[in-house]
Amino acid sequence: MKTETTIQGLSASLNPARASRKIIGFVPTMGNLHEGHLNLVREARKLCDVVVVSIFVNPIQFGPNEDFDNYPRTLEQDSHLLAEVGCDIVFAPSVEQMYGHQPRLTNISVAEITNDLCGLQRPGHFDGVAVVVTKLFNIVQPNYAFFGQKDYQQLAVIKQLVRDLNMPIDVIGVPITRAADGLALSSRNGYLSEQDRKTAPTIYKTLKLAEENLQKGQNLSDVLVQIRADLTAAGFEVDYVEARTPMLQKIDQFDQDVVLFVAAKLGKTRLIDNLQIKHSS
Ligand code: PAF
Repeated sequence: MKTETTIQGLSASLNPARASRKIIGFVPTMGNLHEGHLNLVREARKLCDVVVVSIFVNPIQFGPNEDFDNYPRTLEQDSHLLAEVGCDIVFAPSVEQMYGHQPRLTNISVAEITNDLCGLQRPGHFDGVAVVVTKLFNIVQPNYAFFGQKDYQQLAVIKQLVRDLNMPIDVIGVPITRAADGLALSSRNGYLSEQDRKTAPTIYKTLKLAEENLQKGQNLSDVLVQIRADLTAAGFEVDYVEARTPMLQKIDQFDQDVVLFVAAKLGKTRLIDNLQIKHSS
């Protein structure tokens, strides 16, 4: 496995693969990797000849009071894990390498679907994601790119971006990887205290209970109220509990497939999760 830290170096490493029309798969990450990321790489490995993983903590997607400075940077440990799952090239550029040519005058905004859910609490976050992912796509020029369904809204934004701008890339959404107790894996789980880590799986439990209640015919809005109440009783500070269609349109009845979304804080740690529920008709 090679590690490249410059755009030029990465191009030089990838040019032979491009020249021989190899299928290039790309997994963008911010590092501090867990099984969820490794599963993205495993999926990429199945479909692609060459697998590139980027590790870049992107400053422009963090708000002023978010955890950019403290975000764990664990390149050495990440590199070991990536080598084990068959990554070919790690691209780990510096902020200077990605954004050195200041000022950056171009922004990328995906409208509507970003003015909802996490976009409401994190203004500018999805613009920052759209800019860095576009830059990374231009640098890596992959055939396939792999994103986790845990960040469902992010995945929808990237799919929209790729469609709107005719990027020649297939975006693949990979199902959420969960711990044995149901907690969706996330780099931020590492911030949880021992006690909060025990409470955190309540999110998934409430989502699964909601699924059962919906299947039994309970009203969608009652189900959402119940999730909120259960989380609050367990000690969460709930940010949102919402239902949307798989295309992120508002929905008030369970008369088609629905995705339930939760964002809630335990202590200072904000957790998100979602559950896709099929409507059987
Ligand atoms: O999901 C992430 O880790 C980041 O938002 C991404 C896609 C790597 C862009 O910085």
